[in-house]
Amino acid sequence: MATAQCFVIFILLNFLFLPEIHCWIPIMLRGRPTGGMVGPPQPKGPANSSVPVELWFDFQLLDHFNATDQRRWSQRYFVNGNLYQSGGPIFLMLSGEAEADPAWLQYGAWIEYAKTHNAFLILLEHRFYGKSRPLGDLSLDSMQFLNSRQALADTAGFIGGMFSIRNKFNLTDNKVIVFGGGYAGSLAAWFRSKYPQFVDGVVASSAPVFAEVDFKEYLGVVSEVMGRSSPTCNNRTAEAIQMIFEWWGQPDKRTKMFTMYQLCDHINHDSIIEPYAFYNSLAYNFEIIGQYNNVNRVLEGLTDTYNNVTVDTLCNIMSDESRGPSIQRYADVNALLLKMFSKKCHDYKYDKLIADLKCTKWTDAVAEGVRQWLFQSCTEFGWYPSADWYGHQPFGDIFTMGFNYSCDQCASVFGRDYFCIAETGAQETNLYYGGFNMQLTRAAFPTGTNDPWHALAFNNTKLEDVVPIVIQGSAHCADMYTPTPQDPPQLTSAREKINSLIGRWIS
Ligand SMILES: *[C@@H]1O[C@H](CO)[C@@H](O)[C@H](O)[C@H]1NC(C)=O
Ligand SMILES: *[C@@H]1O[C@H](CO)[C@@H](O)[C@H](O)[C@H]1NC(C)=O
Ligand SMILES: *[C@@H]1O[C@H](CO)[C@@H](O)[C@H](O)[C@H]1NC(C)=O
Ligand SMILES: *[C@@H]1O[C@H](CO)[C@@H](O)[C@H](O)[C@H]1NC(C)=O
Ligand SMILES: *[C@@H]1O[C@H](CO)[C@@H](O)[C@H](O)[C@H]1NC(C)=O
Ligand SMILES: *[C@@H]1O[C@H](CO)[C@@H](O)[C@H](O)[C@H]1NC(C)=O
Ligand SMILES: *[C@@H]1O[C@H](CO)[C@@H](O)[C@H](O)[C@H]1NC(C)=O
Repeated sequence: MATAQCFVIFILLNFLFLPEIHCWIPIMLRGRPTGGMVGPPQPKGPANSSVPVELWFDFQLLDHFNATDQRRWSQRYFVNGNLYQSGGPIFLMLSGEAEADPAWLQYGAWIEYAKTHNAFLILLEHRFYGKSRPLGDLSLDSMQFLNSRQALADTAGFIGGMFSIRNKFNLTDNKVIVFGGGYAGSLAAWFRSKYPQFVDGVVASSAPVFAEVDFKEYLGVVSEVMGRSSPTCNNRTAEAIQMIFEWWGQPDKRTKMFTMYQLCDHINHDSIIEPYAFYNSLAYNFEIIGQYNNVNRVLEGLTDTYNNVTVDTLCNIMSDESRGPSIQRYADVNALLLKMFSKKCHDYKYDKLIADLKCTKWTDAVAEGVRQWLFQSCTEFGWYPSADWYGHQPFGDIFTMGFNYSCDQCASVFGRDYFCIAETGAQETNLYYGGFNMQLTRAAFPTGTNDPWHALAFNNTKLEDVVPIVIQGSAHCADMYTPTPQDPPQLTSAREKINSLIGRWIS
């Protein structure tokens, strides 16, 4: 039915010559920007001609946990053997909730580690993302096979199973170091914990290890970064939110906000969910800039000119008296983000978002990963950045029922069966992997104090050779990106530490 719906909308919009409206996906959803949490490293450059394009592992089981289901599918991966020397380790990077980007085979901090240790590089795409498509669509029927446990079993089959790629590349006895960032970092750590026989050490960057539905700490960290940027940034933002609240009830002011915030659609005052969606969509502006503050990467869809925008930029706008009242400054921040991502207007409508997220074809815009990520969020992790920590963040208390909003969103997109199941799913996930009490050895957990995900980072220092590396002032997965001369010393020394840990694990 959802497919039919999408088709009808598609036809209608084609008729009106406005297909891009249908393809709206938010710049951020549940901590994941469009294109995924770990975007490609800098610089963008021509591929080394000797780096192969893409390869396929044809022996992957669809369901690793049902012996009578023998269906197999082809998983995509990339390799680079240019830096390898006989006896060196395999470096396996896990891709997460987005299409795998082969730029990683040429750039990023792990290239430096690979040069030190003569490693053979492999990047493995996650099932149901990018071109790794076990089934023909993203229907609920298909996505029953989309979860982290199946993804880990994929990794085990790929690197250690009967059909493992080790023979193909004559790497039968080589040590293995697994890398990952964000959710893929969690996968890396869980892989070491669940399949220690297949991996000699892991580097899990900015990895959330605790599943939590009401991820209220997220906006708290964003707010801390804003506070360090400017003493008035939080207060001015809170004022703007308060003014939006007051204006919401007044017809003439709603019309004014329509223009001020360059909205795509007029505000429907009678909808209960509308203000939640609106406040939330405006918080994304600070979320996306905060999560990648000063990280050496380019966000998906971002024009290069705006790569220099940081939390300081946004806070300077919020603190600029000459721009008028706070509500106008908050709109100016929004205008900047619209320009950065080349958007014609600001989309925020709950119903529009839901209609798009229901689309199930691989050719639909949401198949870039946002639908799959929402599914994993609703069933396994939660990780909904709610406004519940009011008093610790300025983005309004109106979506403090973030938990409820979260339940509703899952039910709206996937159906009544998915109402509030995230709570059970998250509990199961923590029972299965151990959460903050996960058991493993030989793991590095680099994390940045300015990264909202830092709040869920692994911090147990009592395990053998498990090293949380807290990088002051750095953001999401900063350690993974190509080093630059401008890097703060604590980031440089984090990378040095990682490199020497790898040396120890493969010796
Ligand atoms: C296992 O796979 C078989 C064959 O596809 C299927 O009939 C059965 O329902 C599956 N069992 C479970 C528990 O999913
Ligand atoms: C890319 O090619 C250059 C020149 O051949 C080489 O020095 C470099 O190590 C290569 N980088 C990778 C990651 O293969
Ligand atoms: C495979 O690797 C081993 C040692 O790592 C080496 O001695 C052998 O020559 C290699 N074989 C091929 C076909 O490259
Ligand atoms: C921010 O607002 C709080 C509460 O309204 C107030 O106590 C505080 O002094 C304000 N801080 C600044 C820097 O304006
Ligand atoms: C970012 O760069 C653009 C053009 O390169 C420039 O116009 C703008 O002022 C810069 N913004 C900041 C905050 O440095
Ligand atoms: C959550 O939403 C439902 C309706 O979707 C409502 O009945 C319930 O009262 C809400 N719960 C809270 C805690 O507000
Ligand atoms: C780790 O962090 C969590 C969440 O912040 C906290 O509850 C826990 O006490 C911390 N554990 C240690 C060993 O510091």
